[in-house]
Amino acid sequence: MQWLLEQDSIDWATLSELYRIAPLAEKKPDDLKRAFSNSMFKCFVFDEGTLVGAGRAVADGVDCSYVCDVAVHPRLQGHGLGAAIIDKLVELSAGHKKIILYANPGTEGFYRKRGFARMRTAMAMFVDRDRAIERGLIDRA
Ligand SMILES: CC(C)(COP(=O)(O)OP(=O)(O)OC[C@H]1O[C@@H](n2cnc3c(N)ncnc32)[C@H](O)[C@@H]1OP(=O)(O)O)[C@@H](O)C(=O)NCCC(=O)NCCS
Repeated sequence: MQWLLEQDSIDWATLSELYRIAPLAEKKPDDLKRAFSNSMFKCFVFDEGTLVGAGRAVADGVDCSYVCDVAVHPRLQGHGLGAAIIDKLVELSAGHKKIILYANPGTEGFYRKRGFARMRTAMAMFVDRDRAIERGLIDRA
């Protein structure tokens, strides 16, 4: 496996395809380029030239690092790569007072095993609030 911690050679359409098949979400290549460019930490993992894993963290350098967009190619899921990506983003986030994320419903156990605990006071505003409720991300009230 080859790890890249910068994005100069990344093909955003390929990353978009990885997120589609993982599956994580439909994400437009241009949006991914902007999101990763605005993220302090990022990692991409290649297996013989094929992009098989990725993740990023938006961080302020002092207080908070927000881990997101972690996904592994379906062919390699269940072999420790997702855990290694989280461990790398946590390592890169060293020095921040907290590292936060929100889990895709069903992946909470994966993050718990990496040391994350459920936040009691986390709150969010979603542009598509009804969809977030439908996906089980937020309460209706
Ligand atoms: C979630 C995801 C990143 C996990 O990556 P992975 O490489 O398959 O996971 P790993 O093999 O590193 O698993 C590490 C540990 O977490 C456990 N685990 C993996 N997925 C899990 C899940 N959904 N729920 C609970 N535990 C899980 C594994 O059993 C393993 O446990 P072990 O250390 O006791 O053996 C991957 O399945 C994925 O890309 N899913 C689709 C996209 C997604 O949902 N991303 C998360 C966004 S919040």
